[in-house]
Amino acid sequence: MTAQRVLITAGAGGIGQAIAQAYDDAGARVHIADVDTDALGRITSGSDAVSGTAGDISKAADVARIIADVQEHLGGLDVLVNNAGISGPTAPVEDLPADAWDSVISVNLNGTFNVTQQAIPLLKESAAGSIIVMSSLAGRFGYPNRVAYSTTKWGLVGFTKTLALELGQYGITANSIHPGAVDGPRFRSVIAGRAELSGRTVDEELADALALQAVKRLVDPADIAAMVLFLTGPHGRSISGQMLPIDGDSKAAS
Ligand SMILES: NC(=O)c1ccc[n+]([C@@H]2O[C@H](COP(=O)([O-])OP(=O)(O)OC[C@H]3O[C@@H](n4cnc5c(N)ncnc54)[C@H](O)[C@@H]3O)[C@@H](O)[C@H]2O)c1
Repeated sequence: MTAQRVLITAGAGGIGQAIAQAYDDAGARVHIADVDTDALGRITSGSDAVSGTAGDISKAADVARIIADVQEHLGGLDVLVNNAGISGPTAPVEDLPADAWDSVISVNLNGTFNVTQQAIPLLKESAAGSIIVMSSLAGRFGYPNRVAYSTTKWGLVGFTKTLALELGQYGITANSIHPGAVDGPRFRSVIAGRAELSGRTVDEELADALALQAVKRLVDPADIAAMVLFLTGPHGRSISGQMLPIDGDSKAAS
């Protein structure tokens, strides 16, 4: 089998980096698009099979460059992982500045649309095309003080389900993934900050954060990556139009 050709947006950090690493380990050829030029440089210099483009997916000109680079480096595309997303500030609806609303919509919805629209012609040429969209627990529940984030993550579900219906005839699958609380330095520092404020222990704050989950465990980014590889691999060809939570069976976004 020839190596899969994969584009990952926001692949230079966090969950996207774990996904890029998993594809690299599996022998795929990976192209990363990310706004963080330094992080991108560190990753692409570490592997011959990983290339990258510095760019912001909310800017049409950057996306055109990203897709041109994919063509040049990979010669086509089998898998698009729409991972880039920003959360915006924490504020109730009535206090959220309009420009903060706009920038979340612009990256999460417009950016994902831009990349996907331009990638579709390449995916149609693939023998086994797949699209993954990174939604969230906030794309299954309301999320107080994060209205723009939640709105876009629900919007991406309609986007994904429409892609599945339009592109199934070309053998292209499309699925959304909905992570809950993901382990990493950012989550750990939020918990440490809460403990400092409350005077409680980090373990007590962690237990509170996990109180609405059936399984009391943070999500390992490597587990999300493994799910992405399965969905876009040979045994995932009949799975499309689905929302896949990975959140320990959470009952709310908090
Ligand atoms: N971390 C979580 O707990 C969690 C939970 C549910 C869903 N998600 C979703 O998973 C995805 C990745 O989240 P994360 O926490 O790993 O992200 P992150 O905040 O750690 O950022 C990952 C990368 O995104 C890049 N990036 C940001 N804006 C960009 C843009 N406009 N264009 C290109 N690159 C951009 C950053 O430079 C960074 O390298 C997001 O869509 C997020 O909403 C995350």
